[in-house]
Amino acid sequence: MRLLKIFPAVFLTVACCGQPDVPAYLDENRPLDERVEDALSRMTREEKVAILHAQSKFSSPGVPRLGIPELWTTDGPHGIRPEVFWDEWDQAGWTNDSCTAFPALTCLAASWDRELSALYGKSIGEEARYREKDVLLGPGVNIYRTPYNGRNFEYMGEDPYLAGEMCVPYIQEVQKNGVATCLKHYCLNNQECNRHIADVSLDDRALYEIYLPAFKKGVQEGGSWSIMAAYNLYKGQHLCHNQYLLDGVLKGEWGFDGAVVSDWGGAHDSDQAAAYGLDLEFGTWTDGLASKGKSYDAYHLAQPLLERIKEGKVTDAQLDAKAARVLKLIFRTAMKSGKPFGSLNSPEHLEAARKIGAEGIVLLKNDPAASGVKVFPVELDQVKKILVVGENAIKMMTVGGGSSSLKVQHEVSPMEGLLAAVGDRAEVVYERGYVGDPSGSYNGVTSGQDLSESRSEDQLIEDAVRAAADADVVLFFGGLNKSSGQDCEDSDRNNYSLPYAQDRLIEALVAANPRTAVCLVSGNAVAMPWVDAVPAILQCWYCGSQAGNSIADVIFGKVNPSGKLPFTFPVQISDSPAHNLGVYTCGADVDYKEGIYVGYRWFEHKDIKPLFAFGHGLSYTEFEYSDFVCDRKLCQNGSLHLALKVTNTGDREGKEVVQIYVGEENPLLERPEKELKAFAKVSLAPGESKTVKFEIPASELAYFNPDSHSWVLDPDHEFKVYFAAASDDVRGSLPFRTR
Ligand code: BGC
Repeated sequence: MRLLKIFPAVFLTVACCGQPDVPAYLDENRPLDERVEDALSRMTREEKVAILHAQSKFSSPGVPRLGIPELWTTDGPHGIRPEVFWDEWDQAGWTNDSCTAFPALTCLAASWDRELSALYGKSIGEEARYREKDVLLGPGVNIYRTPYNGRNFEYMGEDPYLAGEMCVPYIQEVQKNGVATCLKHYCLNNQECNRHIADVSLDDRALYEIYLPAFKKGVQEGGSWSIMAAYNLYKGQHLCHNQYLLDGVLKGEWGFDGAVVSDWGGAHDSDQAAAYGLDLEFGTWTDGLASKGKSYDAYHLAQPLLERIKEGKVTDAQLDAKAARVLKLIFRTAMKSGKPFGSLNSPEHLEAARKIGAEGIVLLKNDPAASGVKVFPVELDQVKKILVVGENAIKMMTVGGGSSSLKVQHEVSPMEGLLAAVGDRAEVVYERGYVGDPSGSYNGVTSGQDLSESRSEDQLIEDAVRAAADADVVLFFGGLNKSSGQDCEDSDRNNYSLPYAQDRLIEALVAANPRTAVCLVSGNAVAMPWVDAVPAILQCWYCGSQAGNSIADVIFGKVNPSGKLPFTFPVQISDSPAHNLGVYTCGADVDYKEGIYVGYRWFEHKDIKPLFAFGHGLSYTEFEYSDFVCDRKLCQNGSLHLALKVTNTGDREGKEVVQIYVGEENPLLERPEKELKAFAKVSLAPGESKTVKFEIPASELAYFNPDSHSWVLDPDHEFKVYFAAASDDVRGSLPFRTR
């Protein structure tokens, strides 16, 4: 297949003066638009249609006659998917396609570190490049609307500013490899349940203020060369051919010049696919060639499109507009010369995965246990016996979860990471404690683990409790997993509680040994009825190939935790906005009645205390905030200048995420109490102070006025800026006024 990527010598014609004359579309020194126009002028109508749809599960044909190569896509978003058969989801059984699994994007978002996002993008981009992929299907920036969404682990949390800021460096660095990102899933795909029929209705403010900004930033600042249109509907049209959001907003208002790719099987209507937004169709009738006589030729952007053009229902100009975008994508990626060669599974990538994992892990709670001693960090010179309990200490988590499932050379489990860190300095024993899902396979990739267990639930708890009694510390590893109905594509959770009787086990463990810590491996919030009894809680996410090492680094204090939650943990599901209002449904009509009050915006608006707030995360040291400075007056179109001093008052080096929120007093249109508008991660030695400065453009402070369909900053109005360590931990505030 790659042979097609060699530029055809046949087109090197000889000009009158005897110099080789390169056709304009092959000349990389020319502007893209010129090259595209030239290529289009040489292509037949059939060739133009051919490049608009898939030829296999993950590739589209180029124009072999002109030496324009195929385009190869791959999942995404936290590792390069194993090769699948031409027309099947099953892995093809290659032996050279194991990748580095990077931490799931929830963890990256929890790092609040733009430099780590750049490292992530660089590393995964290099892996995509080595595997000769042209388009990486990610990152995902759908907003966390409900803890039930099975795909939250693939996204960057509940705040549009955080998700937007964190996706930009990822995109830019991936694309430096000549690999396009495909920002997904545009948009309003905030639940998996009935994702193909869910027709979302919401007000324009919620659309523009909450659900669109991360996509806009990814497109405009990140410069993503492609975007994936989602499965769901908006205003009765599927997103894959949605006139309002593709033509109106994305290509119109934002001036997106890349290609709109359908989610796999997301296109449903030949007329709409021809008329609106969609440029490149994948996965229709997902059995492709094998599916009951329906072939790739029957895709909406294949024969049906040709027929419509011949019947005069669709113009050649409309066809050219789509083909131009796909050509541009090919020129930017598959056909780009001088690309780096990339690398796979390099020590640098494994190190990057370990680092990102450790920096994203969030220390939720670290009170002294009944013994008066803090559990974390576990000091190895003070413990002789460590008991590890729970299936998630040993279960491989890189296999499963849907399209983001991976094949890795090796995954370091939490247990393996702990054992490696402890060495012979203490005894580490393991008890299963509960049985979750002992299976482990996805599309032919199997974990190879035998997790079968014959003991009863009672017996497992009894055995774990017995072992806990004489341990110096108990580390429970539980949470969710990548099985259907948990953190997994194509289904939502139907329960906010921990599954598999884990609550009962945790309560029994902490009763037996007060020095019990709960380490949650999940990409979602869960209920914690035992929160007051348990002294220490660590949110470990899905950290990929190096998970166990990242976790051990934090537990034993090699890395001082600095992650902060990218979404709110409600105490109970009925506290969460969509559930509180009874509008989380799996039906066809999904009404986002909560409007702009998503995540912490809702909890603050309704004065509901969360279990753990957005932006929360502890450290092994302490930080003091002081010397707050803020412009008193803001020019209408100027920037807001801020400064503060952060001091590490503890005895360990550490990193702090300084969060800046802004709220308007008595706004003309109701607004959230405060919203995240800036953040910075600062590294400080013990006793060290640093002045952190921010400049927030006035445009970031505006709200979307649905009547004028524009962003508005109320003139001569009083605002407040909040200098915070978490959304519920404000260390100082200052007023300012607009002109
Ligand atoms: C998912 C996408 C994924 C695609 C290709 C779809 O089911 O929603 O995120 O990129 O499959 O695997």
